[in-house]
Amino acid sequence: MAFRTRIGFLGAGNIAEAMIGRLYTDSSFDVAASRRDAAKLEELGKKYGVETYSSNRGLVERSDVVVLGIEPSSLAAVLKEVHGQQAKLWISLVNGASLAYLQQSLGKQALVRAMPQIGFKYGHSVTWYAANGDCAQGDIALAERVFAAGGISRRIGESQMNAATAFSCEPGLLVQDLIADQKALDGEGLKVDAQALAYLLRGTASKIEELGIKGASASVATKGGSTEAAHRFAEGKGLYALREQRVSACVRKSEELSRKT
Ligand SMILES: NC(=O)c1ccc[n+]([C@@H]2O[C@H](COP(=O)([O-])OP(=O)(O)OC[C@H]3O[C@@H](n4cnc5c(N)ncnc54)[C@H](OP(=O)(O)O)[C@@H]3O)[C@@H](O)[C@H]2O)c1
Repeated sequence: MAFRTRIGFLGAGNIAEAMIGRLYTDSSFDVAASRRDAAKLEELGKKYGVETYSSNRGLVERSDVVVLGIEPSSLAAVLKEVHGQQAKLWISLVNGASLAYLQQSLGKQALVRAMPQIGFKYGHSVTWYAANGDCAQGDIALAERVFAAGGISRRIGESQMNAATAFSCEPGLLVQDLIADQKALDGEGLKVDAQALAYLLRGTASKIEELGIKGASASVATKGGSTEAAHRFAEGKGLYALREQRVSACVRKSEELSRKT
């Protein structure tokens, strides 16, 4: 039988489950998970047929790759718990936790700090990641193989990680925009359902892939038409400048979380 990479999710909430949901069907990975809530852990094990561990140390012991999927507030206690343990590769998903901070506890080991999105579940995540100096080429290739299960990946410098986190806020923010659109259209007497919105977004995504962002933007509006009118209105009201500030607010929050770890 071919060698299978043993990957262990320490902390198995929203984002870890999105990743597990892709990786458990990949025959080159052998997936396991740990979390404190025994009932939820058992449920996860049954749902995906993955091994479960009530002990974080036990999980690390059996894993080639350990994915830290805990909230920032649980990180310090978890790092204390697994102190002295080794893995081939550690991947931290914890917002704000720097590679230097992780290295202080885990020591000289291959560490990757990654920011996927929940779209991993559907194969549509862009996983931004930074690696420490102890990552060999093989470790980077391994991390990219994990990320490829849920979409694409982009290696960046660690200083860009807060901006990458803000990019990862976009799916949630777009949903808020869509809710506002729905309300406005409802006011005009049109009920727009989730499937209709999803089709609209898929069409836009395909257009961006084909033409690039500028190309898609240039081809959006018929001259003198209704899209152009909405665009001019938004520009005049400073809506796009406000959106830039909204993204900046995401970056500032990530910076604040970084200072706490
Ligand atoms: N959600 C996203 O889209 C997203 C994207 C990229 C990165 N992230 C980052 O990923 C991390 C997790 O986010 P999330 O949204 O998935 O949060 P979440 O749903 O709250 O998941 C956190 C998990 O960690 C477990 N946990 C906490 N303390 C633990 C401990 N001592 N031992 C074992 N498990 C423990 C929790 O389960 P128990 O309470 O049962 O232990 C829970 O399953 C965060 O640091 C976040 O910044 C999230």
